Amino acid sequence: MNEINKNIESHLKYLKLSGIMPVYEELSLKATKSKLQYEEYLLLLLEEEIKRKQDTSVKSKIISAKFPFVKTIEEFDFSFQPDFKEKEIIRLSGLGFIENKENVIFLGPPGVGKTHLAIGLGIKACIQKYRVIFISAAKLLEDLLISSKNGTLVNKLLMYSRFNLLIIDELGYMPIVKEQANLLFQLISMRYEKGSIILTSNYNFDDWSKVFDDNIVASAIIDRLVHHSSLFYINGSSYRIKDKIRKKS
Ligand SMILES: Nc1ncnc2c1ncn2[C@@H]1O[C@H](COP(=O)(O)OP(=O)(O)OP(=O)(O)O)[C@@H](O)[C@H]1O
Ligand SMILES: [Mg+2]
Repeated sequence: MNEINKNIESHLKYLKLSGIMPVYEELSLKATKSKLQYEEYLLLLLEEEIKRKQDTSVKSKIISAKFPFVKTIEEFDFSFQPDFKEKEIIRLSGLGFIENKENVIFLGPPGVGKTHLAIGLGIKACIQKYRVIFISAAKLLEDLLISSKNGTLVNKLLMYSRFNLLIIDELGYMPIVKEQANLLFQLISMRYEKGSIILTSNYNFDDWSKVFDDNIVASAIIDRLVHHSSLFYINGSSYRIKDKIRKKS
């Protein structure tokens, strides 16, 4: 490596221009070959830097959203759920629902892709630089209960209010006692018309009385969630056992 390259690389390091570092030599050769103007070469370098910075920022948004797995909307096989409104999901992928502070609710039995779709929309939101957090309903309720017991509930609610998109997964797998239902109600009320929620549940709303000890609070929660929402009932069969079923037949 000659003296100029050494200096360039040390300056790039100092200025944290990690996108330019791996490409500047190759681009410089290309620029010479194609007789680019100095400004054109500089522009290419800057574009590489911006691309790298954007990729890193999306990656860090996806990591901090704490998705349990990474699956995209594009990976979702809509032909497996023929009754499902693909067009609606494509419309939601435009993320107007986050801008409008609306909710998305996926209801249906195990394995039909509720979490997959919630994560897919969450990833789209991360790419568009929205602040996203994914949490299971059980963990969320535990978190709220602990905060309420140790006097930090207000801070915890404020923390959840800072996200543009809150994904609450698997409501209904655990029974919800009155105290937890009240805490959930506070959270949902606080985000009502102020920030989007994606909720997944294996119970239809008619059956929420089986999940909640307190029917009145359950109704109040449903009311706020459903007003300004896109609601999907996915009634197909489980994708998890699709190969087993096909092999049998
Ligand atoms: N239509 C589909 N196309 C591609 N993959 C799918 C589809 N449906 C589900 N899957 C995959 O099957 C697995 C189970 O899906 P997912 O976890 O989203 O189900 P779920 O409806 O949330 O079920 P549960 O209620 O048990 O949590 C995941 O790996 C998911 O990516
Ligand atoms: Mg799920």
